[in-house]
Amino acid sequence: MIKNILVVFIVFLATVNLAYSAAQKNELLLEYKSTTSINNKASLQRGAKYFVNYCSGCHSLKYMRMSTLAEDLDIDEAIFSKNLLFNNKKIGETMTISMKEKDAIEWFNAVPPDLSLTARSKGADYIFSKLNTYYEDDLTATGYNNIALPNTSMPNVLANLQGEQKVIIDSNSYPIGLEKVSNGSLSDVEYKQLTNDITNFLVYVSEPAKLKRYSIGIWVLMFIFIFTIIAYFTKKEFWKDVK
Ligand code: HEC
Repeated sequence: MIKNILVVFIVFLATVNLAYSAAQKNELLLEYKSTTSINNKASLQRGAKYFVNYCSGCHSLKYMRMSTLAEDLDIDEAIFSKNLLFNNKKIGETMTISMKEKDAIEWFNAVPPDLSLTARSKGADYIFSKLNTYYEDDLTATGYNNIALPNTSMPNVLANLQGEQKVIIDSNSYPIGLEKVSNGSLSDVEYKQLTNDITNFLVYVSEPAKLKRYSIGIWVLMFIFIFTIIAYFTKKEFWKDVK
């Protein structure tokens, strides 16, 4: 009896929680979908470069080893060391950063989270939409707000590339659209491409072994296929006299 009540209670809590998070999500976000593919090496290489240039000042990838990265993305170690080395570390080290939590709180009122697993915990589209839905807002400390992470304390670090956007609201002050108010150095298509590459890179980082698993997987399937044929003919041979 008590068990049943507990089960009902847990289901109830889960439903309320689901309904709550659905209500929290802005429908506008449905317009911001990433198209990631970890087999697209060129995109991953660009994403790695952008990440090091634009994000690594604040965000670590503490589970990512740079030598693994260089190997997986087919980047020559010499070229990697010259262009992509994270905070002047050695290539065998992981991608941690030197910013102190105390300083981060003083500067941003928040500690920039490690992004190693964010693509898995919150999804690729979340990262993509976070980078695409900044808009001007005089009431925040950074001068910007964001649809994917409302009232975020992360500055709009790509504003020069994207340009500025303002929000369109309905009669209940609910955001229903974003409108470009000035151009950045990239066109809309180029900016989407760049943020998609960064997102793709973070998807790869969240599970680097997947790349290897996929390529091994094909061989495993081929083995099973060939083995099935052999097993079939072996069976035929063994049973041919029994009838
Ligand atoms: C100047 C420092 C700074 C830079 C540079 C920066 N961020 Fe952030 N970022 C932050 C802070 C601070 C937060 C925490 C925001 C909050 O909780 O409101 C954050 C949060 C995030 C989150 C949300 C994480 C979560 O768990 O919800 C994502 C995703 C993110 N950043 C991606 C990026 C990417 C991609 C770049 C590079 C294009 C980048 N950031 C560059 C400071 C920075």
